[in-house]
Amino acid sequence: MKSLVILISGRGSNMQALLQANLQAERITVVSNNANASGLEIARQHGIETIVLDHRAFPDRQSFDAALAEKIDACRPKLIALAGFMRILSDRFVQRYQGRLMNIHPSLLPAFPGLGTHARALQEGIKIHGCTVHFVTAQLDHGPIVIQAAIPVAADDTEETLAARVLEQEHRIYPQAVRWFMDDRIRLIGNQIEVLGSSVSGAALYSPGLAE
Ligand code: GAR
Repeated sequence: MKSLVILISGRGSNMQALLQANLQAERITVVSNNANASGLEIARQHGIETIVLDHRAFPDRQSFDAALAEKIDACRPKLIALAGFMRILSDRFVQRYQGRLMNIHPSLLPAFPGLGTHARALQEGIKIHGCTVHFVTAQLDHGPIVIQAAIPVAADDTEETLAARVLEQEHRIYPQAVRWFMDDRIRLIGNQIEVLGSSVSGAALYSPGLAE
């Protein structure tokens, strides 16, 4: 069974984009570390099974991650997609799901890992900004890049306008990356993304203009 687990902490707009993408997944489960995440309601409206695992109920990161892994393993997922999941995951957790743990980040990594990406982008005066889908490694907001979308930064952009335009692109590229993985079109070999059934290297996946 092709199962997908989506981890969220808040708004859930990327999760919603995944739910609306008509992915080849027989079972989708949304897990949140925050009972008040508005994304949970959206998931329920889509008839999707939701699980809440409040990290504050656990004494430390290791024990939360172990409980999270237990919930995830019960779903036997092909892929775990982080969609605004604002918890740092332990090395052990990341290793356990190596090659099947994806994240979306609101910058053109490796620029601007961490929080406040749009404000920092404006502060630096960069002219091109965007978002990245990557496989997760032990280093925060790092790891083999599956796809990126780039947008120009306008002189009159504010944090809000920039965030809105980047988010629009996030909603395009995340479903595409997840679809590629669920359809066995990409996989992670070591540190490289292999495109199956093609001799083209991972660099071909750099553009969101690629056909789905
Ligand atoms: C998104 O912009 C996502 O890229 C970002 O959080 C937002 C969640 O929004 N993730 C990170 O910053 C991870 N480092 P959403 O809940 O509406 O999808």
